[in-house]
Amino acid sequence: MSATSIPQDAQPSVHGVGYQPRHDSQLGQGSELSESAQDSHWLARKVGELVAEDFRRAHVFSQFGIDFCCGGGKPLSIACERAEIDPAKVVAALNAVTLTGSKEDELNQLPLDLLIEYIESTHHQYVREKAPLLVEYSEKMVRAHSEHYAEIVPFAGWVRALVEDLMPHLMKEEKILFPAIRGLSQAEHIETCFGHIGNPINAMQHEHEEVGLILQKLHELTNDFTPPEHACTTWRVCYATLAEFEADLHQHIHLENNILFPKALGLAQ
Ligand SMILES: [Fe+2]
Ligand SMILES: [Fe+2]
Repeated sequence: MSATSIPQDAQPSVHGVGYQPRHDSQLGQGSELSESAQDSHWLARKVGELVAEDFRRAHVFSQFGIDFCCGGGKPLSIACERAEIDPAKVVAALNAVTLTGSKEDELNQLPLDLLIEYIESTHHQYVREKAPLLVEYSEKMVRAHSEHYAEIVPFAGWVRALVEDLMPHLMKEEKILFPAIRGLSQAEHIETCFGHIGNPINAMQHEHEEVGLILQKLHELTNDFTPPEHACTTWRVCYATLAEFEADLHQHIHLENNILFPKALGLAQ
């Protein structure tokens, strides 16, 4: 999925921890070697795995425009190349994130049935609450401003497409895939119509990618959800809601693609 980009030379702040680049003069030869080895270690790891270990790394990747959801299977080195970001800057920001206990650790430890319950009660519930609001705001923008601003009609169309993709997606997960994963986690044999669990997982991952493409379109149409100076309150609220909606979707899809689905596939082996 897409993520909001920042200029490459910007210094990200992670949970209030400012990124302070180290000066080479502060490093002895030995520490240069160890730092280089540590950097290689970061760059070889998969983005999704890094986030699965500590969700605060997701904020670092978002700030640099690195896709940690659908693109979570790529090594960090490749992800930096795709995002045209200097890997050293990303590694420095990752090093600045303190690795202490986190919500992500807790979620990663949950049995799969409880993780599913969390995803449904937190993220699916959120989509069901906020999606109708996004449609309402965007349609109001069409009625009030589309005569003068050509970008509003396609914007509202892509918002509707996003919602129309997501609603059946939630339903398929809740009615088909998640019950099958619950069964696997409880070592129950459940008759399914889809064969191996990898089949619906592949289908859901493909739908996540489609949602990511729609969000990319919305980024392009809205200058990364930046309201123009002449925007009315509804317009501003709509873009702010959409940015929040995207952030929640990033976390939601990350939990599915990088934690739930790999663990389910592991159980099915
Ligand atoms: Fe979901
Ligand atoms: Fe999903």
